Amino acid sequence: MTILVTGGAGFIGSNFVLDWIAAGGEKVVNLDKLTYAGNLANLASLASNPKHAFVRGDIGDRELLAKLFAEHAPRAVVHFAAESHVDRSIHGPAAFVQTNMVGTFELLEATRAYWNTLADDARSRFRFLHVSTDEVYGSLGENDPGFSETTPYAPNSPYSASKAGSDHLVRAYHHTYGFPAVTTNCSNNYGPYQFPEKLIPLMVANALEGRDLPVYGDGRQVRDWLYVSDHCEAIRVALERGRPGETYNVGGNSERRNLEVVHALCDALDKLRPRAGGHRSLIKFVTDRPGHDRRYAIDATKISTELGWTPRETFETGLERTIRWYLDNAAWVAQVKSGEYRNWLDANYGKRSAA
Ligand code: NAD
Ligand code: TYD
Repeated sequence: MTILVTGGAGFIGSNFVLDWIAAGGEKVVNLDKLTYAGNLANLASLASNPKHAFVRGDIGDRELLAKLFAEHAPRAVVHFAAESHVDRSIHGPAAFVQTNMVGTFELLEATRAYWNTLADDARSRFRFLHVSTDEVYGSLGENDPGFSETTPYAPNSPYSASKAGSDHLVRAYHHTYGFPAVTTNCSNNYGPYQFPEKLIPLMVANALEGRDLPVYGDGRQVRDWLYVSDHCEAIRVALERGRPGETYNVGGNSERRNLEVVHALCDALDKLRPRAGGHRSLIKFVTDRPGHDRRYAIDATKISTELGWTPRETFETGLERTIRWYLDNAAWVAQVKSGEYRNWLDANYGKRSAA
């Protein structure tokens, strides 16, 4: 048996593939375009593992998808591939519409064509797990209850709008074709292998170099933080026990203001890597992000009561593990930031597309 994972060289996808194989899961065929956010170094420990087959390619490539389905006959698709950074979506929304909406459409079409060819038993067991975000619900006020699965969609950034579009397509494929899709909408993740453009790894990397820690606006925006391996476990649970056509919200029950996160991170670094004057002195308030969502929070009651999932890490334990990982893996950060990895990739991997 095999599963097809898309975007498995990115932050969450690579954590998922590593955890899946470590937990004794079936072989993974990993389809990833290797954009700036995809990094095969994340999967170096699987280099000679027959349970992992990497394919460089685009989820929008119909022919490649048909070939992969015919060759590997997966029992499930777990779909992570996306453009994922809000700030990039503000500067260049086109890639977000292309990958998150058009790419997901092509993947749905190819998967549906394959699913239609399966015998009854395999057809009823097949699953398409769509990994999405809580940002599709828009922004909460200070005292609003957290997002539930019935909260109306109100995306505010090109990123969240493109993810909302993909969620709607997935929903429609279930409603119209009976396509066996399950969607998860998760809050902000953090942990190993996160590209240092997102808040936590960016702040750790800058703090270690003694550079400014740029806090947008007043720093009072709230996010609900979840350690990445907890998200990966929620996806495994939703894949095995989630009901087709349902969506499940996934969150860490760890709401923090951005400034609180940066303070916690500075204080932890003060203990692990002391610096004259302390790391908090590096904090610099900068111009706010346009259309910046004020607060995200998740009500994870449904996945907890229906599927029995709750996070294992608290924000404090998860943050400490994350900081230690970045301290122990300075070479990974340096490689990603220097572009050395991209040069290596272009020189050694070139523009080859398929396995
Ligand atoms: P990421 O940007 O780190 O990784 C995305 C991966 O997708 C990269 O490896 C990239 O090369 C690949 N990719 C991009 N375009 C592709 C294409 N057209 N074809 C094939 N591969 C392509 O993102 P992430 O943070 O790991 O997020 C993974 C998924 O989880 C996304 O769908 C995102 O919306 C969702 N999500 C992320 C968070 C978070 O906090 N990071 C929270 C909730 C949901
Ligand atoms: P980010 O990690 O980009 O995730 P998202 O925008 O998807 O929630 O940002 C998390 C929060 O941190 C968000 O409110 C924006 C803020 N932020 C900063 O204040 N400074 C930064 O340099 C970055 C990258 C983010």
